[in-house]
Amino acid sequence: MKPKFYVTTPIYYVNDVPHIGHAYTSLACDVLARFKRLDGFDVFFLTGTDEHGQKVEKAAAAAGLDSQSFTDRVSPAFLEMAHLMGISNDDFIRTTEPRHKRATTELWRRLLAAGEIYLGGYEGWYAVRDEAFYDESELTSRPDGTRVGPSGAPVEWVVEPSYFFRLSAWQDRLLEFYDKHPDFIAPPSRRNEVLSFVRGGLKDLSISRTSFRWGIPVPDDAAHVMYVWLDALNNYVTATGWPDPDAPRAAFWPANLHMVGKDILRFHAVYWPAILMAAGLALPKRVFAHGWWTIEGEKMSKSLGNVIAPADLVAAYGLDPVRFFLLREVPFGSDGDFSRRALVSRLNTELANDLGNLAQRSLSLVARNCDGRLPPRGAPTEDDATLLAAAGALPALLRGHIDRQAFHEALEDVWKVVRAGNGYIDRQAPWALRKTDPERMAFVLRVLADVLRVIATVLQPFMPGSMAKMLDQLGVPETARDLAALATPLPDGTALSPPQGVFPRYNDTAA
Ligand code: MSP
Repeated sequence: MKPKFYVTTPIYYVNDVPHIGHAYTSLACDVLARFKRLDGFDVFFLTGTDEHGQKVEKAAAAAGLDSQSFTDRVSPAFLEMAHLMGISNDDFIRTTEPRHKRATTELWRRLLAAGEIYLGGYEGWYAVRDEAFYDESELTSRPDGTRVGPSGAPVEWVVEPSYFFRLSAWQDRLLEFYDKHPDFIAPPSRRNEVLSFVRGGLKDLSISRTSFRWGIPVPDDAAHVMYVWLDALNNYVTATGWPDPDAPRAAFWPANLHMVGKDILRFHAVYWPAILMAAGLALPKRVFAHGWWTIEGEKMSKSLGNVIAPADLVAAYGLDPVRFFLLREVPFGSDGDFSRRALVSRLNTELANDLGNLAQRSLSLVARNCDGRLPPRGAPTEDDATLLAAAGALPALLRGHIDRQAFHEALEDVWKVVRAGNGYIDRQAPWALRKTDPERMAFVLRVLADVLRVIATVLQPFMPGSMAKMLDQLGVPETARDLAALATPLPDGTALSPPQGVFPRYNDTAA
């Protein structure tokens, strides 16, 4: 039986329109999911929308719609974003679905039965934009006197009856858990932030609201709706069919990875594991917090009018170049700045020049000089063997990087081989061998085809469409495109389809 792998994106708030920040989180998960499938795993990849809470209720009212009609209208934009970005999710969850209400009501009941929930009163600060409660010590004042939370979201003073989750009781057990599972929170700088937050002491968490209606009702106390983060986090469990132990996806829990942005790490790495322990459920294996994109040096915001819609980028540059750029430009985990100039320069240098030329030069020589058939393998020289070994090492290297979500390192290692391939073709000059040593020419081209096959195979998760084209041109059957298939050489004489450029060049002036 194939090993299982369960990866999740955060579920997106439907009051916003999809932008490249959302696309980025989903894209990283997609590359991971595709790589794992290529590596023989049975993958469950989940994404979806977060539809309850005060923020969505307000957005619905502003749009003149009831909350359910509003979410029905806006949730599909995130499904469309997934299609547009080539996201290979296996399920799309909406928190307004009956399956989720059922699972979350059951989660509440279990927490209550375990004595982890009590009724009290909340008096404190709340930021609707973040749907988060903040402590006085976390606030700052704007020049106009508005108090704002750490994210810059305005806070309001809230006084209302509320159910609480006994988070304070979980401090030591959380610290013990982090200690035993040093890889649970990544990257390490973020782990340290979480550790110091938890060491600083945890207060019980308010988990219900009475001042608005748009949420899952608290069982047996209809005056309250559940706090939207409790509701939202549970989507990861709902999607496995919980609490039905016989649900087809039951065995996918616990998730292998929750991918999140740095702004929502606390919810995933502190509240969520405590809630799961309290409910007697297994904990996810890992939470990775990635960085944030700014746009040409500025924070992305509606008021600045610099929000980038994934659809516009894909229309201008094509899907795979955009996917490549987002994961190549910035070390995954760090913040990054998006600029069209950087995008165009990466696409021209690394896709069109480095990889595109290597493929185009090699394959057009095969087409012209080898009757369009894969030349036979022979006895490798040292130069051949070095390049073949560097390519052969890629699957294992990438496996390591992808398991640590080091997407930029994975791409860097592939590009080392791409650059080595270009050095090799220049040194070997197969075009000059045509007259002097056709047999050697044929073998050099075979080395290049074999190396390109490895490169195109391992790059499929990043650029599925263009790498499928490259593998077509290399004569690799669709059944032989996973990592395991690389162990079996393609038969000599395989007919190749005529080469076509895979990556266009872009005009710098368009930037
Ligand atoms: N609904 C919550 C998540 C609940 S998960 C149980 C939420 N939604 S969100 O739509 O506001 O954000 C979703 C993701 O988009 C977050 O991981 C966030 O970090 C990411 N990004 C939003 N803007 C971003 C950038 N400018 N750059 C990179 N990622 C950003 O939070």
